[in-house]
Amino acid sequence: MILQERLEQAFSQLGWTWIPEILHRVAEEASKENISYVEFLDNLLQEEILAKNDRYVTLKTKQAHLPYHKTLDQFEFSFQPSIDEKRIRDLATLRFIEHQENVIFLGPPGVGKTHLSVALALKAISERYTVYFTTAHDLVQTLQIADRNNTIRKEMKMYTKPHLLIIDEIGYRKMEDEAAHFFFQIVSERYEKGSILLTSNKSYGSWGEIFGDNVLATAILDRLLHHSSTINIKGESYRIKEKKKAGFFKLDKQNEQGE
Ligand SMILES: Nc1ncnc2c1ncn2[C@@H]1O[C@H](COP(=O)(O)OP(=O)(O)O)[C@@H](O)[C@H]1O
Ligand SMILES: [Mg+2]
Repeated sequence: MILQERLEQAFSQLGWTWIPEILHRVAEEASKENISYVEFLDNLLQEEILAKNDRYVTLKTKQAHLPYHKTLDQFEFSFQPSIDEKRIRDLATLRFIEHQENVIFLGPPGVGKTHLSVALALKAISERYTVYFTTAHDLVQTLQIADRNNTIRKEMKMYTKPHLLIIDEIGYRKMEDEAAHFFFQIVSERYEKGSILLTSNKSYGSWGEIFGDNVLATAILDRLLHHSSTINIKGESYRIKEKKKAGFFKLDKQNEQGE
C-alpha cells in the first residue's frame, strides 16, 4: 500500500500519466514471460512516450483548426490523374516547410485541394511543426475585427508565427481594400520566414479581381511565388462522383450508358 502510494506520487511528479494505467498489466506479463528488469522498464517507458506523442498530436491538431481529418492514404490518386502523385509525396517529406517555401493548390471545387492541405498539415503536426488553418474569409474577418479592437498586432501573430499557415479558398469572394491589405501584410511578413499553403479556384491571371487591385495582386504573387510549388488540379469533383454512385444523377447515368 505504501509502495503503491509512493509510486503514484513519483509518476505524478514526473508527469507520467500513462504508466500508472498499464503498470500492473505489464508487470504481470513480464513475470509470466520471464522478461528482464531492463526490458520491463523499456516497455513501460516506450508506452509512456507513445501516449505522450498521441496526446501532443491530438492537442496540436485541435489548435490547428483543421476543417476535417483526412490523410494522404485516404486520397485516391487514381481518381484525379492530373495530380502527379510523386509531387505530392515529395511535398509530404515537408522539405518545403524546412525551406520556408510555399505551396499553392489551384483547381475547381471538389478536386481535393482542402483534403491534400489537411493531409500535409497532419503530417507536419506529427513531425512537430506548428500549423494553423484558416479560410481566406475567416482570416479577413478576424483581422477586421481585431483592427477595430486595437488587437491587430496580437492577432497577426496567429498567422505569422506557425511554421505552416494554410489559407483555404482564396478567390471565392472578392476582397475589400482593407482586407487585401491585411492579406498582403501576412504574405510579406511570412516571406522567406515561414511557409504558406494556399488553395484557390482562380488561376493567377484572375487574382487582380480577387484583390480588387492589379498592383497589389502582383506584389502578393511576387512574394508568394518566389519560392513555391503550384499544383494545378484539373478534373471532376469527388463529391459529384460520390453522388453519382449514390444514384443522384440518374439522368447523367442514362446519358452515359449511351456512350
Ligand atoms: N481523390 C480523392 N480521393 C479521396 N477523397 C477525395 C478526393 N478528392 C476529394 N476527396 C474528398 O471529397 C471532398 C471534397 O474534397 P476537398 O478537398 O474538400 O475539395 P476542394 O478542392 O473543394 O477543397 C472531401 O471530403 C475530400 O476528402
Ligand atoms: Mg476546399
